[in-house]
Amino acid sequence: MGQDDRRRHSSSFGAAATAYAEHRPDYARDAVRWALAHAPGRRVLDLGAGTGKLTAGLRSAGVDVSAVEPDPAMLAELRRALPDVRALPGNAEAIPLPDASVDAVVAGNAMHWFDMAVAGPEIARVLAPGGTLAGLWNVLDDRVDWVAGLARVSGSAAVGPRDTPAAWRVETARMHVPTDGGVARFEAPEQAEFPHGQRRTAESLVATLATRAGMLVMPAPERDATLGRIRAFLASRPETAAGEFTLPMLTCVLRLRRR
Ligand SMILES: C[S@@+](CC[C@H](N)C(=O)[O-])C[C@H]1O[C@@H](n2cnc3c(N)ncnc32)[C@H](O)[C@@H]1O
Repeated sequence: MGQDDRRRHSSSFGAAATAYAEHRPDYARDAVRWALAHAPGRRVLDLGAGTGKLTAGLRSAGVDVSAVEPDPAMLAELRRALPDVRALPGNAEAIPLPDASVDAVVAGNAMHWFDMAVAGPEIARVLAPGGTLAGLWNVLDDRVDWVAGLARVSGSAAVGPRDTPAAWRVETARMHVPTDGGVARFEAPEQAEFPHGQRRTAESLVATLATRAGMLVMPAPERDATLGRIRAFLASRPETAAGEFTLPMLTCVLRLRRR
């Protein structure tokens, strides 16, 4: 994806902020715990916090969480849902926090939007020595037959290049590890995956997939056709044709320790 496309995708979410807050999943509790296991203290920054899906999980984990989010509509949703969380406008490339002021920086389904050449040193700046950088992603568990079928009919806009476990492993393993003047600021990354699920109906799953960046930037006729294909597929499968079901997912975590 080129720079312009990347900007268009990464700034697409605000237009669907309310649907995003209603339909996107939270994160596996064990994944949040693993992400923070080696953090030297309790001060955590949720970077690219969106409407606060991960922020809420961090708060439940009992840490002292701040949120930074560039999109005003997403930030407004977060402030409405979590009025007691310190929530600031900003982005990964210019974080509105002092040096060494947090013990962990976490990002839920957001780190792939950061320009890590700039964001890497910036994240290292706000982290205390020994602090943790962790990216969490919810991906579809395509080891389950009907989920693999859903990924096939959805197309890459609804189920993107890192939205299944195997693709995620490859994609994030080669994610840019921040350096500073050629010196590695972080130790080698670790990866782990945790079972997760989201209760859905066919209609609410369609609504969830419609909040993906690739879908939000799509011309309306193409989006309607893609959502139509997804609806037809879900109606054709016994697992999803009627009533509620659990969408099988994994929360995948990439964890790095600041030197
Ligand atoms: C898929 S949403 C994830 C939101 C939230 N973390 C969650 O788990 O639901 C991606 C978020 O990253 C934000 N974002 C995009 N580019 C960013 C950047 N360069 N720095 C920080 N956040 C960014 C978007 O505005 C959006 O809210």
